[in-house]
Amino acid sequence: MVPASKEPALKGQRILLCVGGGIAAYKALELVRRLRDAGASVQVAMTDGAQQFVTALSFQALSGLPVRTSLWDAAAEQAMGHLELARWADRVVVAPATADLIARLAHGHADDLVATLCLATTAPISICPAMNHRMWLHPATQANVEALRGRGVQVIGPEDGPLAEGESGPGRLSEPADIVAALAGAAPAGAPPRPRLHGLKVVVSAGPTYEDLDPVRYLGNRSSGKMGFAIAASAARRGADVVLVAGPVHLPTPAGVKRVDVRSAQQMHDAVFAALPADIYIGAAAVADYTPREPAANKIKKSSESLALDLVRTPDILAEVAASTQGRLRLVVGFAAETEKVAEYARKKLEAKRLDMIVANRVGVAGGGFESDSNAMTAYWADGEREFPSAPKTQLADELVELIAERLKS
Ligand code: PMT
Repeated sequence: MVPASKEPALKGQRILLCVGGGIAAYKALELVRRLRDAGASVQVAMTDGAQQFVTALSFQALSGLPVRTSLWDAAAEQAMGHLELARWADRVVVAPATADLIARLAHGHADDLVATLCLATTAPISICPAMNHRMWLHPATQANVEALRGRGVQVIGPEDGPLAEGESGPGRLSEPADIVAALAGAAPAGAPPRPRLHGLKVVVSAGPTYEDLDPVRYLGNRSSGKMGFAIAASAARRGADVVLVAGPVHLPTPAGVKRVDVRSAQQMHDAVFAALPADIYIGAAAVADYTPREPAANKIKKSSESLALDLVRTPDILAEVAASTQGRLRLVVGFAAETEKVAEYARKKLEAKRLDMIVANRVGVAGGGFESDSNAMTAYWADGEREFPSAPKTQLADELVELIAERLKS
């Protein structure tokens, strides 16, 4: 039995799936199935590299349509020429989009069937990058992705996590279910139903802040930004206009998110207030509570046995946002990172900072809190709470954003 579609925005859409040559090509098979479950027709085109990993026959079996593999296939060209195929598509999805394929698309190459189709189509294009994390973070790849983004290409992922070659970092192909949800979120106007946060502006803070002691040293913390970035990505997938104020982290910008990079607590404060007014503020950043009164102009020398730092309080961004009377804020959500008495301290912060919701997580434990790819947390509000058992941060972000959307209505 075909499961009921969770993404009616894709019903009846004609999707041209271009498969690039990476190990993640096997996940594109499941993507075909999920797109068809969502009611889309899927036609597949493969690069030569993709055919080294998965066979055209597998895609044909799942899509129910012939698969195109070459620009020079006379028989296929007679049935549906490549220009006709480019015109047939309501949207083009490139998954996996390898570093090479992204570079060729960014530079407008037409040196194989997939690149030619992407150049010839007028349909919206979405790319789902997948590659080694060093290739993803290379300035050349980032510049190519930015060039494509600038032309309106939707970039879905990549995710952070273990990679095929035994390393870990940003470069994993997004899960097929997440790709389908992101495609549905960017579906053409009028496609029912609208994503849950459509028309709302969401400001998210993420990552640590660095407070400079002198030109070479700073006070920082272990936040990686993963939790806040996953929340920003999830809100954008649900149609929100998202501004992500990010402390110093090494994470790619999620698709459809406007990112503002900052370093110190004061800079984060200023960037958050510059992004207001907004409907929702989510403070997932680990903001320094103290900063040096006066950072030293030159490197502090080892002159005595001990060193006392003169620190002063930073602005409490979250409390100030919650107290702010400007704009249209409908929900202010804070995070509480605690090592003990999690519920008690979280509820105290909820009241003291006059928040609508606080999300508490235990830090200093393995497999959760800072740096880890997973977390466990509990959301508290004045007369309720919801527990989120341990799960990947990407999943928790989706569940939390759904809860936030629910609380907005009530
Ligand atoms: O980034 P990851 O590695 O994925 O880890 C995620 C996380 C553990 C950092 C995240 O889930 C989290 O708990 N973030 C809040 C961390 C924190 O600083 O908690 P806190 O209890 O010190 O602060 C409470 C709240 O006040 C937070 O929403 C914080 O953003 C905010 N705050 C704190 C101080 C300050 N000067 N300004 C603030 O806005």
